[in-house]
Amino acid sequence: MDRIKFLNQLATSTCKYNFGAGVPPLEDYPVLNEIECYETFIKAYPNAPIKQYHQTDGFLGELGSHVFQEDGFSNVQASNIVITNGVQEAITLACWLFKNNTIACTDPCYPGLSDLVGLMGKTPLFLPEKDWISSLEKLPKGSLFYLSADFANPTGKRITLDERKQVLAIAEKNDFYIFDDATYRPFFLDHSLPSLVSLAPERVFHSISFSKILSPGLRIAMTHVPNTFRDAFLSLKANVSLNSSGFTQAIVGGWLLKNDFSLSKHLDAFKNLMRNKQEFFHAQHVPYAGGFFVEMTLQHPSIDLSWCAELLAKEDVAACPMSMFSDNLTLHNKLRLAIAKISLENLKVGFMKIHNFASS
Ligand SMILES: Cc1ncc(COP(=O)(O)O)c(C=O)c1O
Repeated sequence: MDRIKFLNQLATSTCKYNFGAGVPPLEDYPVLNEIECYETFIKAYPNAPIKQYHQTDGFLGELGSHVFQEDGFSNVQASNIVITNGVQEAITLACWLFKNNTIACTDPCYPGLSDLVGLMGKTPLFLPEKDWISSLEKLPKGSLFYLSADFANPTGKRITLDERKQVLAIAEKNDFYIFDDATYRPFFLDHSLPSLVSLAPERVFHSISFSKILSPGLRIAMTHVPNTFRDAFLSLKANVSLNSSGFTQAIVGGWLLKNDFSLSKHLDAFKNLMRNKQEFFHAQHVPYAGGFFVEMTLQHPSIDLSWCAELLAKEDVAACPMSMFSDNLTLHNKLRLAIAKISLENLKVGFMKIHNFASS
């Protein structure tokens, strides 16, 4: 079975202990009243071209600039913000921009990047998990380096402030660019760290998704694109999707007006649920600081798709082998646990079931 089929199956699986799918737990968020948001937006922007074809970058640039400012990026340029059909479209456009250059990523990697690069007939350069910062030194000039600085999928890891500074210093010295997939950035449990784009706007594509914080049904993301690439990024988007939906942009715009441009203030109650899960993981000596994913290490040496299929059939537990996101042999004793949607009770029981299954 291929990994996309496996992930899609997990997304719709009704098993009791579901650590498989990274879907947002919309039922734990304040209800999104899309009609009210839409009306708020049209009151504030009565001339917005909601129903018409419109400029390719969308019509949320001004509101988007408040979002970036609220997140500590004071030098944001509204004209450099492009609305896309989710972060996935922004990744696609950025990779096409760099199609003749090296595209690198951390290992393991989000398949939406690595599979896309594969579809383009290229192979992404996977940087080794332990040594990835020094490996950046080898990237040729003009490369694109994809990462999620905050709570990556699949590892759940966040890079430190010191690591952010090191990455940017190497990018500046060796003249390459960075795509920071900020899909899980609002889900910090303690405090947020400065974004890469706020530290080096001309080096970084910073892409914010509304899928995990509001609803994937919106298909809206906003990306701050470095000045040098703005026009080329827009020409590509014009040929791929013309523009993003005016209707869902209006809903997002109204929601931002009603929520003071904060991407995380409405997540307070959800974060309290996640703090209880964090407490459990810390008691098990498993690191977790925010986001949707946890890396679980087991003694079992060969965790692959068929091991996980057996775990599902025998224990009613769904989880993904970390090897699914990598070619690296040393990841064969790890699982990716998606922990945002599962209840605390089921998380505790499911976690123990995995341990028992692995040692049986
Ligand atoms: C790291 C990462 N980036 C991007 C996406 C897709 O986001 P969007 O719905 O905004 O296209 C996902 C979805 O699972 C993801 O995990």
